Amino acid sequence: MVPDVTTNDVTIADATSDMQSPAPDATTPTDVVAADVTAPTGDPTWWRDIKPIADQMCNNCHSAGGIGSMPLSTYEQARPLARVIANQVRNRIMPPWMPREGCRDMRDSRALTDAEIAKFVAWEAAGAPEGNMADYRAPMPRGNTTRPLPSTPGDIVIQPSETYLPNQRLTDDYHCFIMDPALTTTRDVVGVRVTPGNARIVHHVILFEVRERSLADLQRLDDAEPGPGYTCYGGAGVSPQVRPGTDGDLVDMSVQMVVGWAPGGVPGYLPVGTGIRLKPGSRLVMQVHYNIQGSTRGMNDRSRVDLFLADPSASTQQAFWLPQANQSFTVPAGAGPMDPRATVVANFRNTQLPVRIFGVAPHMHTRGHSIRVEAINNAGASTCLVDVPRWDFHWQQGFFFQTPYRTTSGMMGDTFRTTCVYDNRPENQPFVDGMQVAPRDLSWGEGTHDEMCLNFFYVSL
Ligand code: HEC
Repeated sequence: MVPDVTTNDVTIADATSDMQSPAPDATTPTDVVAADVTAPTGDPTWWRDIKPIADQMCNNCHSAGGIGSMPLSTYEQARPLARVIANQVRNRIMPPWMPREGCRDMRDSRALTDAEIAKFVAWEAAGAPEGNMADYRAPMPRGNTTRPLPSTPGDIVIQPSETYLPNQRLTDDYHCFIMDPALTTTRDVVGVRVTPGNARIVHHVILFEVRERSLADLQRLDDAEPGPGYTCYGGAGVSPQVRPGTDGDLVDMSVQMVVGWAPGGVPGYLPVGTGIRLKPGSRLVMQVHYNIQGSTRGMNDRSRVDLFLADPSASTQQAFWLPQANQSFTVPAGAGPMDPRATVVANFRNTQLPVRIFGVAPHMHTRGHSIRVEAINNAGASTCLVDVPRWDFHWQQGFFFQTPYRTTSGMMGDTFRTTCVYDNRPENQPFVDGMQVAPRDLSWGEGTHDEMCLNFFYVSL
């Protein structure tokens, strides 16, 4: 994904005047609230304690037609699963949400609080009582939801002209669809809604803009495969060419990411006042990752992305997903996450322009074990920007902060550091045609057998 770009020690930005205090970093998690045995209300019940959480935090996926196949909205559905639910929740496997709490507060977080987790655990331990329907209260909004988009179609609607049947010989098919938004002027994307055509099989959607000077590369990829679009993995498969920006743009990347979406991702506006600039002549490439299990074999899909554009007269701050990567590493075959040779670091020193960082999108492939992004000021103090203790390639997405991060180091500049840890042991290798492949040395590349140590910062000046 986006190789050849700003790798180590590229300089951007510094905001001398923006001395906003950094967000509290890596605070110790609050203690798990144990069920209060003396409480007069007794053990947690389905109606009073569990259903409100399930309605809000589980059932957007666990519903008929959702990606989490079994619905969890009635007592009859949840009761037989109480033990597995409690285990999944306690181990923070469900709801799927990769960032660790206590690093930086993210918009639209799916993480449960420790008190909510304790309720699931105590409910199961008490024999999963139903309780009284009259105790049910609809869940309160979490207060961190994105400003809603209008329900009308977007200004640009990206949708392949025909349905696509994923390659049935694979469990994971990554397909890139090429679409022409027919832009005649430069426009800023300020809101995005991704609608999977078939939520059972669509595991993620990444939208790229490919500008005019890379269209020949795109055409070659398209021509090399029959049918609409082409197979791609991680990125759009087109090498970006980076030039200094013109027309007030910071840099001019011939390929840029517009949005990265995973199931449960919320439609909404980009951080307020910011937009991603699209150029006339560009194509949009929609990469869809299809995950095909036994029961979803034979299903096809036609997914859709609605893009909402800023009014051309509005003053929109140009923002983009700025990649930071280490592209020269080798993780030896067999190295586990505790092996120092399995840790790869990318540093990026920021000394020139003031930037605000609104979010991050860390990226590794399937041997990724954990990834952490931090900002280190010139006094050596580190601010955690995202910390993923258990990387899962299937749940990658962009994360927006509740509060943007501004550099704090004055002329010296902050150092941004992305630390990637891999697990390249035999037991952590993917399966190909039902066979687990043997470990081999890992280095940077676009293929399923390659790895990446990459983070995108959603930045604007
Ligand atoms: C963002 C989507 C999403 C959300 C939100 C979500 N799940 Fe899931 N869940 C999945 C997927 C995907 C699977 C695995 C595939 C399947 O169910 O077919 C799964 C599986 C499960 C399983 C089965 C695990 C097993 O080993 O059989 C349980 C139990 C579960 N989820 C509970 C929950 C609970 C409880 C919540 C809310 C607190 C929740 N999930 C929220 C997507 C989600």
